[in-house]
Amino acid sequence: MPKVTVTRRVRFNAAHRVFNPDLPDAENDRLFGKCNNPNWHGHNYILDVSVEGSIDPKTGYVLDLSELKKLVNREVIDFVDHRNFNLDVEFMKGTIPTSENIVVAFWKILEPKVAPARLTKLVLWETENNYVEYTGR
Ligand code: NI
Repeated sequence: MPKVTVTRRVRFNAAHRVFNPDLPDAENDRLFGKCNNPNWHGHNYILDVSVEGSIDPKTGYVLDLSELKKLVNREVIDFVDHRNFNLDVEFMKGTIPTSENIVVAFWKILEPKVAPARLTKLVLWETENNYVEYTGR
């Protein structure tokens, strides 16, 4: 049976402050610069969700991408869109809200939910120049 990877792109915007509360201010400034601005800053994030599976002979789909969109919105996007990662997002509590940590947190939530398809990759774009990828390893 051929395995095909399909990808759904979703967008959200959110605020954060990238800093380590255990470090002194000067060290946070040195490490994180503008990202450590105490009054937050925002990003228009893009998340590409890729899942792999067999083609359903009845539909010709691996899975219905509009169903995948609904699942991703329900499980993660609704909790982060127009929110502050430092203050509002329960699953990011105690975690520095870098894209690296965000994408791993999203994976932990989504990975068990996409069966019988298999989550193969998440790509999170923080700006048009910066993105992170995670494949669950
Ligand atoms: Ni930022």
